[in-house]
Amino acid sequence: MTELRFDGRVAIITGAGGGLGRSHAIELARRGARILVNDLGGALDGSGSSASAAQRVVDEIIALGGVAAANHDSVSTSRGGEAIVQAALDAFGRVDVLINNAGILRDRAFHKMEADLIDQVIDVHLKGAFYVSRPAFALMREQGYGRIVNTSSASGLFGNFGQANYGAAKAGLAGLTRVLAIEGVEHGIKVNAIAPIALTRMTEGILGELASKVSAESVSPLVAFLANEECSVNGNIYSVAGGRIARIFVAETSGVVLKENTAEAIRAQLSLIDEVDVTRFHEPSSLDGETTIIAKALSEIS
Ligand code: NAI
Repeated sequence: MTELRFDGRVAIITGAGGGLGRSHAIELARRGARILVNDLGGALDGSGSSASAAQRVVDEIIALGGVAAANHDSVSTSRGGEAIVQAALDAFGRVDVLINNAGILRDRAFHKMEADLIDQVIDVHLKGAFYVSRPAFALMREQGYGRIVNTSSASGLFGNFGQANYGAAKAGLAGLTRVLAIEGVEHGIKVNAIAPIALTRMTEGILGELASKVSAESVSPLVAFLANEECSVNGNIYSVAGGRIARIFVAETSGVVLKENTAEAIRAQLSLIDEVDVTRFHEPSSLDGETTIIAKALSEIS
């Protein structure tokens, strides 16, 4: 099997001073990519900052024979996003890969979730991906090539108590992935997302028996594939943990076209509307795809 290489490629990895980002950075560097290791170096809740987190990973990569540069800007402002992309250009002259990975946690039951817990989490995860992707995407369009991997989460795709802020941001990243995949396709840009589970400082003490089976390193091979030139998929979202990988997708049931469109008819037919017939569900590839399905269903009754 030929190795998937990144020779000549430059990758920006946000939040790469530890955990999953560090592991992705080492994996891509090992395969020949030059890496911009971005990390604000703060605490799990996003407070504080330090230059040493990113620098430590740069030192590790250099010790392994790789090429890397450190950057400490925050992803959570538009100016920070631009500075991160500029730092990659200054260090290496181009950007081929962007892994949006930076993240923080500020969990709280929804009825106690004050505005600062909402804003900061959405700023780092969701707006951060916008702020770094925008300048990177512009460069990728110009050069007709790019790979973006976003970091979503089961918390947003399936739901998790106490994580309304985080879950909404992570579900937003799934939407961003789908739209950028469509906008990038004619420019050679592929955009996919992962929903990982791994033992990092973010999950310390909450994974139970899984903890010993889900290393950060077990997530990075999928990231390397999605970031590689040979990546054959676009707009997909993958669950990844401990070497188990599965595709997560948004689908819809065949649905029902109501003869009488009233709230009472919906109440009466809800089980049919909700019922999943695995031989008849639809997985639209875009909004247009869904509109086509709706038009077909409506044409069948007119
Ligand atoms: P981590 O806390 O080790 O890594 C996150 C990194 O992002 C930290 O090094 C942190 O300093 C950095 N960061 C935070 N705010 C930043 C900012 N404004 N600008 C630049 N860097 C910033 O945690 P982990 O687990 O490695 O998380 C990586 C990503 O994976 C996050 O987006 C997280 O939400 C996501 N994730 C992790 C899961 C897990 O099981 N560990 C599950 C699902 C998603």
